[in-house]
This record gives sequence, C-alpha cells and structure tokens, in this order.
Amino acid sequence: MKSIAELISEEVKTAFNNAGYDPELGQVTVSNRPDLCEFQCNGAMAGAKLYHKAPIQIATEVADKLKDNRVIESALAVNPGFLNINIKGEWLAEYLTAMAACPDGRLGIETPETQTVIVDYGGANVAKPLHVGHLRSAVIGESIKRISRYMGHKTIGDVHLGDWGLQMGLVITELKQRKPDLPYFDDEFCGEYPKEAPFTIAELEEIYPAASAKSKEDEEFKRAAMEATAKLQSGVRGYRALWKHIIDVSVADLKRNYDSLDVEFDLWKGESDVHDLIPGMVDYLKAGGYTRMSDGALVVDVKEDTDNKEMPPCMILKSDGASLYNTTDLATIMDRVKQYNPDRLVYLTDKRQNLYFEQVFRCARKTGLIDKDKELIHIGFGTVNGKDGKPFKTRDGGVMRLEYLIKDINDRMYERITQNRDIDEDEALKISRIVGLAAIKYGDLSNQASKDYIFDVDKFTSSEGNTGPYILYTIVRIKSILDKYSDQGGTIPDIDSGKINFIAPVCSSHKNLMMELTGFAETISGAYTEAAPHRICAYIYGLANAFNSFYHEVKVLAEEDADKKEGYIALLALTKKVLTICIDLLGFKAPDRM
Ligand code: ARG
Repeated sequence: MKSIAELISEEVKTAFNNAGYDPELGQVTVSNRPDLCEFQCNGAMAGAKLYHKAPIQIATEVADKLKDNRVIESALAVNPGFLNINIKGEWLAEYLTAMAACPDGRLGIETPETQTVIVDYGGANVAKPLHVGHLRSAVIGESIKRISRYMGHKTIGDVHLGDWGLQMGLVITELKQRKPDLPYFDDEFCGEYPKEAPFTIAELEEIYPAASAKSKEDEEFKRAAMEATAKLQSGVRGYRALWKHIIDVSVADLKRNYDSLDVEFDLWKGESDVHDLIPGMVDYLKAGGYTRMSDGALVVDVKEDTDNKEMPPCMILKSDGASLYNTTDLATIMDRVKQYNPDRLVYLTDKRQNLYFEQVFRCARKTGLIDKDKELIHIGFGTVNGKDGKPFKTRDGGVMRLEYLIKDINDRMYERITQNRDIDEDEALKISRIVGLAAIKYGDLSNQASKDYIFDVDKFTSSEGNTGPYILYTIVRIKSILDKYSDQGGTIPDIDSGKINFIAPVCSSHKNLMMELTGFAETISGAYTEAAPHRICAYIYGLANAFNSFYHEVKVLAEEDADKKEGYIALLALTKKVLTICIDLLGFKAPDRM
C-alpha cells in the first residue's frame, strides 16, 4: 500500500504537470512546521531556476490546480515559493479503512520477495555467565529477527556459541587440577564416561574465572590450558566427553537466562560446529591464490585502494597452524551459504568488533565464500554505562551479571507497582516481570544501536516519558476503555475482519492520531531495511503521545452520537493493534492491567 506522502505527491505532481511544469517537482514531505501545515512541497523553488520564473508564481499556479482536489483540503502558496498542504479528513478516514482492510491484517505492509535471513546474535560463551555486555546483542538481535520474520522473510536466529576457544582449555585444565582422578583424564580409560557432569553450573561459573586468573600469573598453567585446547580440538576422547558436559550444563543455564529475556534461538550452533570444515576451506583459499604467508601466519589481504584507514590482512591460520576466531567465522559463512543460501546475514556484537567484521566480510566476498550481491551486515553496538557514564559495574566494581541487572529492574518495578496500592502479591510480581522486561528492552532499543547509553533503573521504569512502561500504560488504558465499551453493550470491531469504518476527524488531535497510524507500514519496512529497531520505538512513542492527546481532548465513552462513538472505538482498536504488533516486534508484551 502506498504511503500517504506518496499519494499526496501523486496529486501534486499532476498539478505541476497540468500547470506546465516538470511533474517531478511535485514531491511532498511531511511538514517540518506542523503548526503551519501537514505536508509541504518545495518544488517551485527548484522550478524557478529551470523556468526562470519567480518561485511564488509557480507555487501559485500549482496551488490553483489543486483546488477541488479529492485528497487535498488546502494548498497554499507562501513566500518565497513554498506550498503548504493540508489533507482532507474524509480521505484520511478512507485511507485508514483501506489499511485495515489489507489481507491477513498486514495493515499496508507489502511483503517484498521472500528472502532468507540469518541473524547471528546473543554472542554467549560457554562456561561464562551472561553479563551486561550480552544484553544488547540478545535484545537488539531478537528484535531484528522478529522484524525480519514479520516482513515475511524466512528468518533463522543462531546463538553462535563461543564453545571452542581457549576458555574451554582453561576450564578443563583447572578441573584436572581439582579432580585428577576423573576418568576423562585417564588416557587408558576405554569404558563409557559417566552421564552426569562432574560439576554443577555454580561450580563451573566459579571455575572459569579462577582458571582465567591463574593463567595470567602462571605461565605453566597457561601452557597447559593451550595444550588442553589443542587436545580437545584434535579429538582426544576424554576431553571431548568432558567438553560435552561443559556445553550441556552451560547451555541449560544460558537457555534459562535467555528465556527470562524472551529471547529464543532457532539454532544453538557454535564455533565448534565448523571445526571439521576448516582444512577444506584453507585448501580452497590457498588453491584460489587468495592467501600469502606473513611472519609464518597464513593471511588474506583485504585492503582496498579507496581505504583511508588502516586495514590489516585477515589472518586465517596462526604461525603454529592454529585457527582463530576469524577462521571459524569464515567457515561458518561457508557453512551457512551451503545449508541455507542466505540473502542477508546480520551479526550483533559490540562495536569493538567493527574492524574485525569488516575484515571478515571483505575476505568472504573477495574469496567467493559468499556472493557479492548478498548482504552482510554487522551491527556494532555501544556500551551500557552506569549513571557515572562508565561501563556498568556491580556495587563492588565487578562485572554485572545479566541476571542481577534484570532482578534490579524487576524489584524497582515491583516497588512502583505496589506503591500506595492494595494489590495481590502474586499479581504484582507477575506484572512487574512483564513491565520490567519492557523497561529493559525499550530502554535499550530506543537508542540507536551504535550509541552508548546509560542504564538508568529509575528512568527506565518510569511510566512517564519515552519509556517502555509509558507505552504499556497507553496500551492498558486503551484496553480498559474498550472493555468499558463492551460492558456498556458495545461491540468492539475486529480489525482483522477488514470491515471497519473510520470517520473523518473531529479535531486536530483526532486527525493527528489518524496521521500517525498511517505511518505504520513505512516504519516497519524502514526498520527492516536499516536493521534498526529504534525506528519502531520512535514511532510508537509518537503514536502513544498522539493517542494520549486525543484521549484528553475527546470524550470517547460519553459521546452521544452513535456513529461518532463507533468511529472513535474503531480508532482505538486500530491504535491498540498497531502498538501491540510493534511491541511484539521489539520483543515484549503488555499485561492486562497495570
Ligand atoms: N562469542 C563472541 C564474543 O563474545 C561473539 C560472537 C558473535 N558472532 C560471531 N559470529 N562472531 O565476542
């Protein structure tokens, strides 16, 4: 469905043409002076140069052609030559009616040709608990995945676990020191290994930091850990069995954490899954003449003539022949192309990996691991900071675990919900979890991904301002008006039936709300193209504000004119539907009451 700006442009283009000017001059945009008009056209200014005429003269002639227009209520030529345009309320009502009548409740969204999209997000590393740094990858990635799916694309979310690096060797080495008698360390052992892991998640979480600290002071320990990593990767039976336990225990815990964020992956693959593909890929790169040796390491040059920044080569194998993070990422691209043939691959990590991904993408394209027409997108996000503007830490300066961060928000939300009010404890807990999640996700997603932001528990949980709870309050308010309407015997129209009628606006806040609603399809497709959920936040904030102004100005339930009342209710139902779809795309839900 065309946007209203496009449809109005069509009218103004025809008017330019009828007045004897190039129709392309008739492009309109949403007014940057909403106090003066709804849309504006600056075409007469450009036309002045082409036709050697005063811009106001052209604007006046075009405005004349727009009299008695079906769509345009008024077009005013103002000095030095702008066209100020307002649209007809009846036409706007027709537009919304058509939007609601779109098949499958798509509200005007046109599904482009179906593509296959893989979103690589979460970024969890096995044996390490999720910390605040993992929040953004999970939250932004989940939203990008949902938006892509809503657009109609075949979309696959993959957590791409860090399960193959030195951290595995560190954990194994530490375990060997603590429990040397385990059969996993006995080279002679050829029986079946125990089904139960020899550690709990709590132990595992304590083992990794202990081992990591040791390796920084103790050279011998570090060497042993590197050796253990190599043994694991080369397939030593006991090490693989132990590794499997580490993965199982860790993944169960990761799932629990991602669940609490309503983040769900289709694939739980990891770096280890492409291990066996690496030798073949290296042969391919060598045979294609893409590689060279540099200080004993195997590299691919990715510098381009137009670069004006440093662009080091992409390293494929270290001088000792070991593979790296790059190697697994390239092999994963190769594997994904083979298995899914994706048109678009989106990666979410913090922006310190910007250069890294540029190297990997260039290398993959240059070497033909992926076709040049496929989209490779890296979203490098900014840091989550505390109120002091520094990376978020616990009170004693440690790394903030994601679990604790969620708990902080939920506790604050609970406090707010139970303040000066009698409410059942279970219900308050349930509501605070739902609203708390919205507070976290909206607090994150409303910022452009690349920017750092301050994690401000008080601000995020407030029901006023540009926050998740404010959006939820708006939805709950609409629900309660609709409920009252049905208690009074009214029938709430079913938007999805496609048979719903809107009425021409009765006041400016009514018109404004209708205009906001028309922006839905464009917002969602823009958010998809740019892989930018913050656009949806900005949109629903504007929509919620427009709704609240309307609600303050217009008495919906007290309206005596039945047609008007029905028209208002239709608008409420559509607003609720649009808001509900949008928050689902952002990854959270609204409670029934707050
Ligand atoms: N585990 C990585 C980290 O903690 C993030 C993985 C991102 N995905 C990827 N394909 N490299 O930095």
